[in-house]
Amino acid sequence: MPQMTALGGEARSARGRAHPNVALVKYWGKRDARLNLPSVGSISVTLDGLWTEVRVRESEADGDTYWVNGQPVIGEAAAQLFQNLEVLRAELGLGVRFCVEATSNFPVASGLASSASTGAALTVAVAAFCTRELSARELSILARRGSGSAARSIFGGFVEWHSGTASDGSDSFAEQLASPEAWPLGIVVAITDRQPKAVGSRAGMRHAQTSPFFAAWVTTQDADLAAARQAIAQRDLEHLGTVAEHNCLKMHGVALTAQPSLLYWKPGTLAAMDTVRGLRRRGILAYFTIDAGPQVKVLCHLRDCPTVADALRDTPGVLEVMCSQPGPGARVLEVVA
Ligand code: PMV
Repeated sequence: MPQMTALGGEARSARGRAHPNVALVKYWGKRDARLNLPSVGSISVTLDGLWTEVRVRESEADGDTYWVNGQPVIGEAAAQLFQNLEVLRAELGLGVRFCVEATSNFPVASGLASSASTGAALTVAVAAFCTRELSARELSILARRGSGSAARSIFGGFVEWHSGTASDGSDSFAEQLASPEAWPLGIVVAITDRQPKAVGSRAGMRHAQTSPFFAAWVTTQDADLAAARQAIAQRDLEHLGTVAEHNCLKMHGVALTAQPSLLYWKPGTLAAMDTVRGLRRRGILAYFTIDAGPQVKVLCHLRDCPTVADALRDTPGVLEVMCSQPGPGARVLEVVA
């Protein structure tokens, strides 16, 4: 329902929608925490079935307010979003306080990249609210300031986020490598835990450099990026899946060996990884990847999604399975002027 102002008119608002993305070659570690500049480039695929919608409207309260799926969010959970709003206000020259209402059709803060879909949807909504015509690259740079992976969710399909070298972050943006239609791959998501994760990616990355493997992670990333780029260009699932699985295990190797150590997996995560390797032994091309959480995402041919989903459903510790494919970028759904 549109909110009414004291004078009876509809409050000015804008609504955007964005989808989470699954990192195939991952972002882990920052070279500048304030500007959210990554130590490495990354490549992802944006998902179609999952989404977050964000509506922003001018708030009559003293400060910003944040609601997720109709519930007010306060404390630590809201602090990140309020910080994103500060950046957007500063960069876009805005003076208003916002009421932000987010709705997601999937569990938030549990390793399904809700920070990417929320950050990208917030960025396009705030830009639309202030009627700023920004290029996709500019939106990507703005979204990156809130959450690194949000820079990639501005785009649909297969997306690369360039780490860049400029100290002001002007060359650290994402761009599309292939549209969702160009390669309708299957992505099966296995939920192994619905609880919000104990350590978010921001906190997780803070100590990434303490891993003895961090330097090797950084120096081997370019080879993984090149391999993934080539596999996407050639629509080569075996090649892409192999590099994605390898890169995932390297990222988790860095997380596991950081001080303090981070273990994002649950028993169901390991069981799902085992299922995926079992499928491969049966000749089905299926490859897992896991972001900063316990959920397992499996790449496969679209025609194999039902077989992969059934095998994951039969896996102990897997609570729910969702089938997806590459989806669209962030977009504005409505502006009430
Ligand atoms: O964008 P953040 O701060 O939510 O970090 C995302 C980190 C990973 O999901 C683990 C990897 C990635 O590239 O998305």
